[in-house]
Amino acid sequence: MTPALPASSPPPNWVESNHPLGWLINRVLAVEPLRQLLFWQARRLIIRTAEGRGIAWRERREALRQAAEPLLAASRDPALSPPAYYRARFHAYDQGNLCWAAACEAEQATDAMALRVWPGEPELAPVVAQGRLRQAIFAAIEPSLSGPVGRALDLGCSVGVGTLALRDWLVERQRREANGVGAEPVLVDGLDLSAEMLAVARVREAELRAGLPPIAAWHHAAAEATGLEPGAYDLITLQFVCHELPQDATQAVLAEAARLLRPGGVIAVVDQDPESEVIRRLPAPVATLLKSTEPYLEDYFRLDFPAALQAAGFHGVRREAADPRHRVLVACR
Ligand SMILES: C[S@@+](CC[C@H](N)C(=O)[O-])C[C@H]1O[C@@H](n2cnc3c(N)ncnc32)[C@H](O)[C@@H]1O
Repeated sequence: MTPALPASSPPPNWVESNHPLGWLINRVLAVEPLRQLLFWQARRLIIRTAEGRGIAWRERREALRQAAEPLLAASRDPALSPPAYYRARFHAYDQGNLCWAAACEAEQATDAMALRVWPGEPELAPVVAQGRLRQAIFAAIEPSLSGPVGRALDLGCSVGVGTLALRDWLVERQRREANGVGAEPVLVDGLDLSAEMLAVARVREAELRAGLPPIAAWHHAAAEATGLEPGAYDLITLQFVCHELPQDATQAVLAEAARLLRPGGVIAVVDQDPESEVIRRLPAPVATLLKSTEPYLEDYFRLDFPAALQAAGFHGVRREAADPRHRVLVACR
């Protein structure tokens, strides 16, 4: 039996509302005109920096919107009503993830995030950084897998950057295991609460398919109440989702993932690493900007994830640092 993992470190000082630094940041952000000002400065800086690194932020936003708008109706479940916590202001957007701006800037923001992981490599191309980030995540999952992965589900898939990388990795893995002959098919689903994100994911999938099997389904649903078949999946990933959730939502999502996995199936939860020195020592101005766009960060850093995974019915929890900022928690059903 794998020994229980120690609880995660306490939240970084800049997160903690009981710490003088966290408290001060919260006070600054409570002054709405100041928050708005900081926020718009940050947004301009992020876009300018990303464009300087070869991410065509604004041009790509317009192209994605044009291509995705016709796919919105097919991506939406009209009966779905997002939970109240999800309607909060996230990132740069007053309507959070429920708007075209968020959906059509998500790919660019995800690439910019990958570049920030390796600040000492100014020549790194966005696509290379993104590939490196995902490969490290999948390498951390591999030791917990025993045998082929025929069905996988990417919860909180957004515009599919992680979903398509997961599909590519699993197809390659299956081919390797089968030595090139008669590889089992791989079915990968994505699931998100934002229909706009899913419409953009469909556009991106069509752009990147190039001979690979299509994503089996893009589900418009809440990760805590998917309505999907129990025990149907071998692997479930939550890539950079939990820092956007209040604690009770995270606990509900983990319980739903346990329901969806077959016995012996694997869950992988990737997100900011509370042990990371880079995260713990974020300069106060950067931390202020980050906090201004992420309403549930303190909840995230306060949750004892190994214990939450165990409470949801998982065992064999492993923790690996995927890169200088992110960790992967992997556990078995
Ligand atoms: C930061 S993005 C995730 C990025 C993506 N997984 C990746 O690896 O690039 C967070 C996503 O989680 C989705 N999300 C947040 N809460 C959710 C929930 N309860 N159910 C489903 N999706 C959710 C958001 O709509 C958003 O698209």
